[in-house]
Amino acid sequence: LKVLSVASEVFPLVKTGGLADVAGALPGALVREDVEMRTLLPAYPAVKAKLAGGEVAHEYADLFGAPARIIAGRSAGLDLFALDAPHLFDRPGNPYLGPDNTDWPDNARRFAALARVGADIGLGAIAAFQPQVVHAHDWQAGLTAAYLRYAAERGPGSLITIHNLAFQGHFPVSVFWELGLPDEALGLDGVEYYGGVGFLKAGLLFSDVVTTVSPTYAREIQTAEFGMGLDGLLRSRGGAVHGIVNGVDDTVWNPNTDSALAQPYNALRIDMRGRNKTALQNRLGLTRSVDRPLFAVVSRLSHQKGLDLLLHALPRIVDRGGQFGLLGAGERLLESGFGDAAASRPDSVSCVFDYDEKLAHLFQAGADFILVPSRFEPCGLTQLCALRYGAAPIVSRVGGLADTVIDGNEAALAAGVATGFQFAPPTVDALARAIDLAFATYHDPAAMRRMRLNGMRADVSWRGPARRYADLYRSVAKIDG
Ligand code: ADP
Ligand code: GLC
Repeated sequence: LKVLSVASEVFPLVKTGGLADVAGALPGALVREDVEMRTLLPAYPAVKAKLAGGEVAHEYADLFGAPARIIAGRSAGLDLFALDAPHLFDRPGNPYLGPDNTDWPDNARRFAALARVGADIGLGAIAAFQPQVVHAHDWQAGLTAAYLRYAAERGPGSLITIHNLAFQGHFPVSVFWELGLPDEALGLDGVEYYGGVGFLKAGLLFSDVVTTVSPTYAREIQTAEFGMGLDGLLRSRGGAVHGIVNGVDDTVWNPNTDSALAQPYNALRIDMRGRNKTALQNRLGLTRSVDRPLFAVVSRLSHQKGLDLLLHALPRIVDRGGQFGLLGAGERLLESGFGDAAASRPDSVSCVFDYDEKLAHLFQAGADFILVPSRFEPCGLTQLCALRYGAAPIVSRVGGLADTVIDGNEAALAAGVATGFQFAPPTVDALARAIDLAFATYHDPAAMRRMRLNGMRADVSWRGPARRYADLYRSVAKIDG
């Protein structure tokens, strides 16, 4: 089965968050399901550099205002189609933001072009690769199914994955006249959304199947509380909405072979893990100590992630003798809040305000607990990495966090099955109580060891999820071959 994936970021070529991790890992995991996936992404400068030897697979005389071409090539084990449209994508830095850290003013045009080309490939623009299914990711690829729908009666099957409903691609109505869709598409049963154009809305409406990245989030987004205005539409899609939890790429995240660690280890040699804690304490300038539990965060600093709650709960960690390390970048207010905390307790709190892929690995290997206090979380990957690396996640009970961490309540601890701690609701008090429980477990070495091992042995791989995607692709595939 041939599937085209359409994504605006793909690890390791370009990444701002978990979407890139998913788009980068899923193709490899689908091989054993007999699915051949190729990925269409914009040829940002970093992508173009990697595909220098690629072939031109298709050319456009005019794609949203200037010539463009599709370059086919391989990089990092991925079969790629890069949309080389210099007027849209030949810009350095973040894929969505300009140098002033705000959205590029022509983002609607840029990602409409991506979707349009995804639909063209779906409809046979590249003879050597005729997909039976097109799989679009998030709002950036949201119009793909709309282009497919208005172009042809019969096309490939279509699937869209919501990685985060908070980003919807909602643009002023004037954008519509650039899209090249028929006038009839500007309606409630088309791409119109609250008086403008909704890219994600269009994808949710026109795709054969809608998935999101955990079963709990799939339910949550059909409620007004988490639906962000799209819950009604999602409810109307009913049985077409599926939740498939993400995996982590176990070739990228393997503590036994990880060159970013001070000391590789595995579940059978878990005692060796401690050297990574010392290395992390050194790296962070924290007092070296094996007795003090080390709590950590690896995250975008945004409202979604609930780190303001953690900032208020931080004294609970420090006053009880714990240590705290943060690796993250984002909102300035959070950076200054955590920065102040570090300045007042340098022996116990340390922050790295950066995006550092390699250091993220040492955090996972050196921390005792990874905190993920999100207000909402479609899936979350950091807690999965934590499980795999033997750090116990402390998470709010929402979305994928609820689905992937086994809460250390009394019964689960007694049965020896817990992998971390969940708390609800997302408040400072509930978080502080979870931190207290974490201290209690930490000071019971047998229980702590049990919890770490349970996490390391939990299946957080892509094998199960890949099978579920493959089943869905087969259910919507329309073209034989
Ligand atoms: P989201 O996509 O909402 O940011 P996820 O947990 O799904 O959240 O994915 C985040 C990904 O980005 C993970 O792979 C995580 O390790 C990584 N990450 C987040 N912040 C940083 C950072 N400051 N440095 C390195 N990696 C980070
Ligand atoms: C989004 C979500 C995150 C999810 C990731 C990959 O960025 O915020 O929860 O893990 O996409 O699906």
